[in-house]
Amino acid sequence: MSSDVNQEATVKWHSICAVQEIPQLGARTVRTGVMEVALFRLSDDRIMAVDNQCPHQQGPLAEGIVSGATVICPLHARKINLQSGAVLPPDSGRVNTYPVKVENGQVLLRL
Ligand code: FES
Repeated sequence: MSSDVNQEATVKWHSICAVQEIPQLGARTVRTGVMEVALFRLSDDRIMAVDNQCPHQQGPLAEGIVSGATVICPLHARKINLQSGAVLPPDSGRVNTYPVKVENGQVLLRL
């Protein structure tokens, strides 16, 4: 058995909340062990999940302003693409992204 298969076997979908429990253009957070994940609801109701920690100085991204598929860090205004996790130029860096799906109105997060 390869390590990829082992990893896949330990990856699970976790039910987080109803879509309506995340405000449009807002976020909620979920603690996963030592990390915290921020789930954002975009204006078109897509849900995006990234680490709730800016790669610059650990700003709480869930408290940032959402514009399109970008969140603006509340501390120093770096812009982070919620789909790719990339910090937009002229800055650089990256946050982890996590797969999200919605089933029967429930948000599921894959970890
Ligand atoms: S901590 Fe996010 S821009 Fe500085």
